[in-house]
Amino acid sequence: MATFLVTGGCGFIGSHLCAALRANGHGVRVLDDLSSGSEANLVPGSTFLLGDVCQPMALREALDGVDGCYHLAAIASVQRGEREWLVTHRTNLSATVALFEAARGRGIPVVYASSAAVYGSTGALPLHEDSVVRPLSAYGADKLGCEQHARVAGHVHGIPTVGLRFFNVFGPRQDPTSPYSGVISIFCDRLLRTQALNIFGDGQQTRDFIFVEDVVRALLAAMARADTTAPVFNICTGQGTSVLQLAALVADLCGVKAEIIHQPARAGEVRHSIGSPLRAREYLGLGSTVAIRDGLEATLAWMREGRPGLAPSAHSGLSARAPIRQGR
Ligand SMILES: NC(=O)c1ccc[n+]([C@@H]2O[C@H](COP(=O)([O-])OP(=O)(O)OC[C@H]3O[C@@H](n4cnc5c(N)ncnc54)[C@H](O)[C@@H]3O)[C@@H](O)[C@H]2O)c1
Repeated sequence: MATFLVTGGCGFIGSHLCAALRANGHGVRVLDDLSSGSEANLVPGSTFLLGDVCQPMALREALDGVDGCYHLAAIASVQRGEREWLVTHRTNLSATVALFEAARGRGIPVVYASSAAVYGSTGALPLHEDSVVRPLSAYGADKLGCEQHARVAGHVHGIPTVGLRFFNVFGPRQDPTSPYSGVISIFCDRLLRTQALNIFGDGQQTRDFIFVEDVVRALLAAMARADTTAPVFNICTGQGTSVLQLAALVADLCGVKAEIIHQPARAGEVRHSIGSPLRAREYLGLGSTVAIRDGLEATLAWMREGRPGLAPSAHSGLSARAPIRQGR
């Protein structure tokens, strides 16, 4: 049994990871400032540190005695990066450097979240880890920066890392009410309420949607592959689904006809994003991924149940709650 620090463990992906780590008998420590995550997502039996990943002291304390760190905390929003460039840069890149600095000399392996946004619009599909990277957003540029600093972390400071380039992740606990929510949670939410769907542009743009359980499997497997050569892996299915196909699929599962309102295309939006999962499958030993229809059914079931979080309301299962830093 090991103990892992999960930054961003109150968020969508982080909460699923914490649940899997606990189910495997590991100790879990969560560092989160609850800026987009929720206390209701805290996994019973985990230790919660309310704090900001931009604070070196908070990071040092959070890393004390852990066997590995999953770094997921970020402002996961391309749009917010446009509006608040410097603020998002601090969380999305400076904090990762601060984390590597805090891990330096302690031999703590770090698995961190990168993104398909590092590729930008680079032409040939599917996107391979060796494809040209040309991010089109501050968010993507910061994620690429994380990968480059991970290389420095390994090469100069001997810190083992793995970067996972998540494509479009979906599943239960992805908040459909967030202004930065993924298209799947928004479509599911609106179609369950029989509301019209807004689609930017012609809806033929494609994405590689991956169910959160597959992402968690990749995160768990990646810890053992952390290395000072700083490998990165695509975490994707290899299958593209257009936004119009997605709308039809969700409408079918909801038993409604989707009313679609086309909005002007968004400037700078990547047209097609489909990744190759082959390297991750080979190196991380991952099997086939959950079919999009099955993942959508699980997501809709969670919404129909009233979107429960993980924790009992009184947080009685938590072993400790020790705020170590408040605010930024
Ligand atoms: N969801 C996706 O489709 C997707 C795709 C590519 C990459 N990613 C990356 O995966 C990771 C997890 O994404 P998610 O979808 O679970 O997002 P999320 O917003 O649900 O989770 C992020 C968590 O980080 C916390 N956080 C943010 N800033 C913080 C700070 N300064 N200090 C401490 N905690 C902070 C939030 O409160 C939240 O709990 C992120 O790094 C994101 O960039 C996600």
